[in-house]
Amino acid sequence: MNDTFLKACRGEKTDYTPVWLMRQAGRYLPEYQKVRSKVDFLTLCKTPELAAEVTIQPVDILKVDVAILFSDILVPIEPMGMKLEFSESKGPILYDPIRNDIAVSKLRKIKSEEDVPFVMEAIKILVKKLNVPLIGFSGAPFTLATYMIEGGSSKNFINTKKMMFQTPDLYAKLMDKITDTVINYLQAQIDAGVHAIQVFDSWAGILSPYDFERYALPYVQRIVSTFKGKVPVIYFAFNGSAMLKKVKQSGADVLGIDWRIDISDAVNSLGNDVVVQGNLDPCVLFGTKDLIREGVSQILQGAKGAKGHIFNLGHGILPETPVENAIAMVEAVHELSAK
Ligand code: CP3
Repeated sequence: MNDTFLKACRGEKTDYTPVWLMRQAGRYLPEYQKVRSKVDFLTLCKTPELAAEVTIQPVDILKVDVAILFSDILVPIEPMGMKLEFSESKGPILYDPIRNDIAVSKLRKIKSEEDVPFVMEAIKILVKKLNVPLIGFSGAPFTLATYMIEGGSSKNFINTKKMMFQTPDLYAKLMDKITDTVINYLQAQIDAGVHAIQVFDSWAGILSPYDFERYALPYVQRIVSTFKGKVPVIYFAFNGSAMLKKVKQSGADVLGIDWRIDISDAVNSLGNDVVVQGNLDPCVLFGTKDLIREGVSQILQGAKGAKGHIFNLGHGILPETPVENAIAMVEAVHELSAK
């Protein structure tokens, strides 16, 4: 197996900088569209053979150094007791949002092997087929809580912040339940064979640094400390560049960095004892191949002082992205970083 990614996670020397793209399996690939035209998104997530097939697509097409399980952060929320739907126009919808004690009390702690067996089945198929490592993942408790409290995506997250600020005990009770679910879910993925895990905190950046520390970080720390030393743990607090020192307190082996910060400034602030992952603006992939190469080169240079670097975009690849430009990015990373 190509273990360049896992070596980089551990801060060991590698022959080149490993690379993958967040949302690398998805709508920008015609091969994905073809599978997806036959089934809706949730059915795709729940059918192990199909989920495995689309997980492998970007490994073959882009030649990335690692695969990420095809699923969604909201999948384990459904067995907690919320009805989930993906609408083409509105994105995810969670019915009967969680706003009071009765609703929190009713939420179940999930048993992943029984409640979402399709995830573990997809992983078992993948570890047999892949010649690169496989990343398992979960949403971070705060990000999952925003979807559960708002009932979907949101602009100002007023209901989430109301619960945080008006009924902190209820908020803590909800976060504890979500954290238990996340730990059970990630443990089941590790038992099924994933080689590393990433915790996506897509909405961490809507919190002030003080509130991040109080209302989001402790739960991430509980997750990271559960898995530390077992498999590499990546924590991605999107829009978190203004609070990197607190993000580092998560204890994760690898920290995802979005594109709003010069990666050399991120490394200066974090120090040389943590691995960084990132951070090309996904929209640079709409530029020319020369521009993409230049962007890659700057980031490779900028990350040199870190304990290790895994190249990635600063957020998910966009559905409109030309595939050949994503391929050009991966080639540029491999070529320019070769020792
Ligand atoms: O990275 C990968 O290739 C693995 C698959 C993956 C998906 N979602 C597939 C997906 C992963 C890791 C996720 C994580 C996820 N899901 C996050 C965290 C990462 C981030 O982007 O910040 C979040 C916030 C979600 C919730 C979610 N899922 C939203 C808001 C949406 C709708 C918006 C959109 O991009 O369509 C989804 C749907 C979704 N998840 C799709 C895919 C491929 C599109 C579904 C389709 O095929 O129509």
